[in-house]
Amino acid sequence: MFGELTDERLLVLDVDEFLSILNDIKARGLAVTDVQEQVLDAVENGTSLGGTKPKLTLSSHGQQYLAKFPAKGDSPWLPHVEAAMLKLARRCGIDACQCEVWRLPDGRNRALLLKRFDRSPVAGGSGCIGFVSAHSVMRLDRQPTSAAQADARLLAFGTQGITTDSLRKSYVAFADAMARWCGGRDAHREARRELWRRIVFNALIRNADDHARNHGLLCADMAAKRWQLAPAYDLVAPALARETPNLALAYLYIRPTARQGARLVWAATLADLLLAAELHYGYSREEARAYLQGTQDLIQSAWRSALRSEGMPEHEIDRYRASFSPLA
Ligand SMILES: Nc1ncnc2c1ncn2[C@@H]1O[C@H](COP(=O)(O)OP(=O)(O)OP(=O)(O)O)[C@@H](O)[C@H]1O
Ligand SMILES: [Mg+2]
Repeated sequence: MFGELTDERLLVLDVDEFLSILNDIKARGLAVTDVQEQVLDAVENGTSLGGTKPKLTLSSHGQQYLAKFPAKGDSPWLPHVEAAMLKLARRCGIDACQCEVWRLPDGRNRALLLKRFDRSPVAGGSGCIGFVSAHSVMRLDRQPTSAAQADARLLAFGTQGITTDSLRKSYVAFADAMARWCGGRDAHREARRELWRRIVFNALIRNADDHARNHGLLCADMAAKRWQLAPAYDLVAPALARETPNLALAYLYIRPTARQGARLVWAATLADLLLAAELHYGYSREEARAYLQGTQDLIQSAWRSALRSEGMPEHEIDRYRASFSPLA
């Protein structure tokens, strides 16, 4: 099955090859070869390469793309919503990956076509660029069994009242870990500021699926061991969202005071986003306020037309109204 394939050659299909296989499958009604089964699986909700949605890597003119299909039970409008959000994020000053909704010639299926940021065209093929998820950067695959095994830098926060685990798995920890990955002070400052803009954007579109595998670093210079934030991906506004979203990772750590213990914050409110900007992400209060206000205004005025320009009908767009209401 697709998820078990290990041969990179089989995983990358030329776009024309993919389309002709798709046609063939449609014409014959049945998949014949392995590759056809993979394609059929992907198009008809098969297993996935990473993440929960079915995906295929396709190539066109030396550039590789990820074709991402809605999973079984997903709205068929998911590719349109994700495309609109990625493009909106770029307008909000966020480095989000390049994408388009792809209307397949069968007239039935739509996919999100994402330019792969971890591949670059080289003579005669495609070069790999190193990628590491925030999940790995924060060493979440390694469960510390005792405080002694936990990262000393995290313990330095003084985790009174907070489990080491919840702090390990937070935007605060990721921002901190980036100091070791992203080179000098200036590069680290820029990466932290970009991370805060992404936190704000996720909050403003009520995307609570911002887990640690939905962020990552891309290798900028392998010899110098220098990494940078990978373009933002998997940005999706949910229909019928909550008023105050809880992000998947805590974005604010408040030190203990004489009156109150230490606190981690997941609930995205304007006041806490502003506080976090100053405490952890290298923004001044004034700059953060200006960005937050400007971005909220932009999203308010642009979300409908962003969804409309991806081809969504008005009755479908209406279901997303709550996702873009101003934050408390
Ligand atoms: N443009 C891209 N270029 C290269 N790799 C990408 C790109 N977009 C996503 N990825 C990789 O593919 C993985 C799956 O993508 P994505 O998160 O969009 O899928 P998903 O199925 O929606 O995931 P989830 O389970 O979080 O909903 C990501 O974790 C990331 O490692
Ligand atoms: Mg994902």
